Parts: sequence; C-alpha cells; structure tokens
Amino acid sequence: MKRRYHFERKPRTGPMGRIVMKWGGSLITDKSSLCTVLPNRIESLAKTVRQIHEMGHDLVIVHGAGSFGHIRAKEYRLAEGNIPDLEQGEAIQLVRRDMDQLHSHVIDALRDLPIHSHPPREFVTNTGSTFHGDLDAFLAPGIHLTFGDVVNCDPPADFGILSGDDLMLRLSNELPGVICSIFAMGGTPGVMTDSSTEADLIPLLTVETGFSGVHDENVDVTGGIFLKVERAFEIAKHVEHVWFIDGHHPSRMVEIINTGETMGTRISI
Ligand code: IPE
Repeated sequence: MKRRYHFERKPRTGPMGRIVMKWGGSLITDKSSLCTVLPNRIESLAKTVRQIHEMGHDLVIVHGAGSFGHIRAKEYRLAEGNIPDLEQGEAIQLVRRDMDQLHSHVIDALRDLPIHSHPPREFVTNTGSTFHGDLDAFLAPGIHLTFGDVVNCDPPADFGILSGDDLMLRLSNELPGVICSIFAMGGTPGVMTDSSTEADLIPLLTVETGFSGVHDENVDVTGGIFLKVERAFEIAKHVEHVWFIDGHHPSRMVEIINTGETMGTRISI
C-alpha cells in the first residue's frame, strides 16, 4: 500500500483570524487620580474578550496607562528622555512599577484564558512607530497582552515612553491574519467632529474628513486622539476593519466581528 504523506503548513493564527484591540488608559483608569483603576471596566472588557476567544479568534490586547503612567511621566518629563540635571531614575522605576500593577489587574481579569504577557521594557528599544523589537512571541495561539511603557532608548535619550498606539500600529500591520483592529476609548462613541458638547460622531473617517479634537497636554505625555487617528490610518492600509468605539460598550467589538457594523467610527483610507 502506498503511504501518503501529508505536509501541513503550521497555521500562524486560528482559522477565524486575529483581533487586535487597545484599551485606552482613560477607559480603564480614572485619569485624574494617581493610580486609580476602574475594575468594573476591565471586567466587562474581559467578558467580551472571553466571548471573542470562544468564537475562535486569537487576540492581542494593548492597554494604555491612564493615571498609572501619564501623571508621574509628565512630572519627571520621561517622554523627553534623559534630561541632565533632572533626577529621573526613581520616576522610571515608579512608573514601571505602577504599570506592572495596572497590568496585573488586566491579567487577573483574564486569568482563566490562555494569556501571554509581553512587557515592552523586556523586548523593545526606542519609541515611536519605528521602535526596535521582535514581535514573533505574539504569534503563539491565544491572547497576548502588552501596554504603553517606559522603554530603554539609544543615547542620548537613554529612555522614553512607548505609546500603546505605536504598539497597535506595528502589531496590527506586522502580525499575520489580522482582520480587525479596534481602539476602545473611554466615554466617547468614536471620533467626534470637535470637542464641544454638540459634537457629532463621525461614522466613517477618511483622510479627507476634517475633525478637531483636543490633546490635553497637561495630562497626556503621548499623542492623544491625533496620534491614534494617524496610527489608525496607517493600520487601515493593511487591515480591513479599523474602528474607534466607546469602550463602555465592549459588545460593539463583537458586532464589528459578526456584522462589520456598529456604532463607532470606522477608519478608511
Ligand atoms: C502611555 O501609553 C504609557 C505611559 C505613560 C507609561 P499610552 O499612550 O498607550 O496610554 P493611554 O492610553 O494614553 O493612557
């Protein structure tokens, strides 16, 4: 009897495709109060993640820092790198410790799932969308977790703040099989026409659509909504479904995956 050999290429994601999502810092923390986590928000996001995983998807979750990162990073000017005459060493350690604490809340909420944690300080050098770092560890099946962090940089900066939005860009564009990349924000239904109370939701944002958000430089050491939108346009070159949604309603992520539609802003190039 002839023997048949069956060579199979190892699949690089589950048959259902990979979902990449950002949990914004203002969604999972109280941004105005140092190191204040919002556990109910994390719980409801985790519930949706469980559901998406049960549907057969691999996931990557990038979470922001909120009040576990921006407040101290702002005070000690960590995003600017090494400033001679300013003692920043202790602040670096404190922000990393605080980020570990926030990250452990996320891990705890997903504990029963096959999770893999990747603190950026362990695999990234330099900041911005061209950071150096091997993303191969994110290929294993399951749910991968990472976050905005203080990372080492080449001199003269020596260190800096890597935003979760830059991780979103690289992970969405470089991992195979990404079908959907979602920015879940805190308390806004998507990208708005402006920052007034009468602002309207922009359901489809293209490079031609104008909008005028606010970047609260008093709080935010990374780029705020403008950085996110810029990164989202880059992602939309590679990924079909790129969305901003209100993270107070995580089930909208399931709607995008199931129907390709929901309340939120879809990004299209
Ligand atoms: C910032 O990360 C990281 C630190 C300040 C340590 P992000 O830019 O992704 O955080 P959020 O979403 O704005 O809080």
